[in-house]
Amino acid sequence: MTDRPKVFVARQIPDDGIAPIVAACDARIWEDELPPPRATLLDAVRGCAGVLTLLTDTVDDEFLDAAGPQLTVVSNYAVGFDNVDVPACTARGVAVGNTPGVLTDTTADLAFALLMAAGRRVAEGDRYVRAGRWKTWGPLLLLGPDVHGATIGIVGFGRIGQAVARRAMGFGMTILYHDVQRAQAAVEEAYGATFLPLEELLARSDFVSLHVNLTAETTKLINTEKLSWMKPTAVLVNTSRGPVVDPVALADALRRGIIGAAALDVTDPEPIPSDDPLLSLDNCLVVPHIASASRATRGKMAEMAAANLLAGVAQPQQRIPTPVNPEVYDPA
Ligand code: GLV
Ligand code: GLV
Repeated sequence: MTDRPKVFVARQIPDDGIAPIVAACDARIWEDELPPPRATLLDAVRGCAGVLTLLTDTVDDEFLDAAGPQLTVVSNYAVGFDNVDVPACTARGVAVGNTPGVLTDTTADLAFALLMAAGRRVAEGDRYVRAGRWKTWGPLLLLGPDVHGATIGIVGFGRIGQAVARRAMGFGMTILYHDVQRAQAAVEEAYGATFLPLEELLARSDFVSLHVNLTAETTKLINTEKLSWMKPTAVLVNTSRGPVVDPVALADALRRGIIGAAALDVTDPEPIPSDDPLLSLDNCLVVPHIASASRATRGKMAEMAAANLLAGVAQPQQRIPTPVNPEVYDPA
């Protein structure tokens, strides 16, 4: 059937997404565990009407040139889309989709798990036991801060930041937030959240959790200066994007006790090299970018990414359900 739209799916995703794509398209699916090498990706997208990408695939002018002018949609299997040059897509009339909403609570769950694990030294304690070092109950063994009743500073108060606030409420935490835009009074009231300039938030928080998008402005947002504003006991949690934190500054701050601990779901680069200084620090917890990794959520993300892809390649073209660049349908 030659009239089926040609699409490339850049990785194996849950069947919830693969099944509808394979049913409707002339689909090639990249089956490897690792992403397609750049040259392979550029070759695979040639002549495609749509491409389903992951955050490990860079979509830029070179990608769009390689695909060709018949490309109508790039469906990113993620809520974040810093891997996609959105203006370049819009300029060529290519719709870009993401998967907002479905992963909000799952991501907030992991942010809170990391917050608690780093604060209460869960991974460190596990290593201690496995190393055969547990000799007796110790009054001074592996002490950490309380989570309940502590002050949390949420940087980036969008859907995920607010979902973290809901969890913090259950722990009786004082909730501070910072965002480029102040939330509506009703939202602040719902969470009992106080807006603060970043400097003050960092100075007052026992736990700081990052929920910003990666942009030019948020790259290395947390650097040596910002870390110096934090409490020596503070715990930094990053489930946003690795480059939001300067990793060299962070390793230095953790080593020198400028802050107490860090928990990272995202690193710069990804994956983090096994000899990275951060991995030699007991007060740094790192997991491999798994914040949205619940079975249910990854399935819903697959459904959404497939729906965006299929709407984008439909004849006649349909508006994709969750566009990042709705302006593509409404040229000025
Ligand atoms: C994952 O990091 C996402 O943006 O969905
Ligand atoms: C993601 O869902 C966010 O914008 O916080």
